[in-house]
Amino acid sequence: MGELKKHYAETIFQHISRCYGFVETDMGKGLVSELIRNTDHRISQTLKKYIWEFGVTGSLKTAIESLLEVWKHELVPSRDLLLHNIVVQQDAEKIIRLVVIDGLGNTGLIPLRYLPRSWQMQKIERKIANFYERIELLLSQRGGDVLPGYHGELLHDGVSDVSQEIQ
Ligand SMILES: Nc1ncnc2c1ncn2[C@@H]1O[C@H](COP(=O)(O)OP(=O)(O)O)[C@@H](O)[C@H]1O
Ligand SMILES: [Mg+2]
Repeated sequence: MGELKKHYAETIFQHISRCYGFVETDMGKGLVSELIRNTDHRISQTLKKYIWEFGVTGSLKTAIESLLEVWKHELVPSRDLLLHNIVVQQDAEKIIRLVVIDGLGNTGLIPLRYLPRSWQMQKIERKIANFYERIELLLSQRGGDVLPGYHGELLHDGVSDVSQEIQ
């Protein structure tokens, strides 16, 4: 995350959760990052959950295009763009933006930014193609009772009283 801040344009943080470094916790070191919430203060749901519930809506199409636009333009290094590592920030009517919250940074030994621009673009295009494939797969599974895989459901919405929910 430090590398991203240092070497990439500020605009990428429109689609990446900001990182604020480590803090000590009673469970060891914890990495603090910007928590993405909707305008009603609920924690934003993952893209996986959103597609499972609503499919690829017009508002989502636009939001995906603007995420991928920045990804391609700024050549952001990331692992595979997994649907449970992207959250959908919403207001009452529409999607505000998609935010990548996990799976960022370089995958190979050589940081992406040192490779020729055409290689970087090729890698990013492949990630994008895989991303669309994952969306198609999830769409084909829609209609089932449970969200496939164990990723994607929030344990808490960030607003309700936790003690009530546990009881
Ligand atoms: N910054 C964030 N804003 C909103 N939700 C988040 C954020 N970070 C994590 N989450 C939620 O927590 C889940 C797990 O977080 P993640 O960082 O992907 O950990 P892991 O991959 O180890 O399970 C995400 O899928 C998402 O639902
Ligand atoms: Mg994750």
